[in-house]
Amino acid sequence: MNYPRTRPRRLRTTPAMRRMVAQHRLDASDLILPAFVREGISEPVAISSMPGVSQHTLDSLRKAAAEAVEAGVGSIMLFGVPEDAKKDAVGTPGTDPDGILQRGLRAVREEVGDDLVVMSDVCLDEVTDHGHCGVLDARGRVDNDATLPRYAEMAVVQADAGAHVLGPSGMMDGQIGVIRDALEAAGHHDVGVLAYSVKYASAFYGPFREAVNSSLKGDRRTYQQDPPNAREALRELELDLAEGADMVMVKPGMPYLDVLRSVADASPVPVAAYQISGEYAMVEAAAERGWLDRERAIEETLMSFRRAGADMVLTYWATEFAQRLRVAAGG
Ligand code: PBG
Repeated sequence: MNYPRTRPRRLRTTPAMRRMVAQHRLDASDLILPAFVREGISEPVAISSMPGVSQHTLDSLRKAAAEAVEAGVGSIMLFGVPEDAKKDAVGTPGTDPDGILQRGLRAVREEVGDDLVVMSDVCLDEVTDHGHCGVLDARGRVDNDATLPRYAEMAVVQADAGAHVLGPSGMMDGQIGVIRDALEAAGHHDVGVLAYSVKYASAFYGPFREAVNSSLKGDRRTYQQDPPNAREALRELELDLAEGADMVMVKPGMPYLDVLRSVADASPVPVAAYQISGEYAMVEAAAERGWLDRERAIEETLMSFRRAGADMVLTYWATEFAQRLRVAAGG
């Protein structure tokens, strides 16, 4: 007789069997919802390249945060969008205690207390008139060392406004160290840092530019990582750990799952993956055309991060997906 004694298909026969042997699971508490709060609007503004995602008013941001808590989402990551007229070369709205991001942080903390881990973006691109993540030198290049004190100041202002965790996303060398020092000096010993340790110069950030009304012309290739390079991810990881990162991130997600795996294997601290705006937009656009099954595609992309070793996932679908998990679990 010619038959296989070993049949992997036996473990795929029923939903209960597949559930039992599933090696990885998604948990709402590991999801982080990125959210945008915009100054000077009275109604939420839809982001056309990210169907279902809006720039929030302070009020609608509160509601979104409360909804996330209700769904069991673990965390929210805030980005502030100031009025264009307030942007300048050094990103003043980023260090103004009444800047929109700081007001958003205070509103969310007031709404949810400690029920969500409240995070915020430490970067200048949303608040500068040139749209770069750092300040520029006389020749128009992004000046690493002149940017660091701006980040230090932003970090303290955001911590003062109630952030539990800061997410420095600018890819300046030494940023984690100066932020850690500034937080300690200001007495914010318990405010953590989720370092965007590994962040590639990616085309998939496209829709985010609309989300934050970005003023950027050009690209970020002199500070974000070059897509061909995998090895330097480990170097960035090592540096951020030495500078005091509490958690680390790999970004974007799907185009860099190999990098995520190598970082997850090497990291002694929790690792997050950021499923970015372009990844979101691709699935939404294809689903809208009926080209793929939206719900299955969402779940499969989220599972890919888990399988590649992510402990946490930033995703614009966080609340929706958490609600879905809740329904699947029977309420
Ligand atoms: C920079 C920042 C960016 C994103 C998060 N933080 C944009 C960039 O680096 O160009 C992108 C997130 C997304 O695309 O969803 N502050």
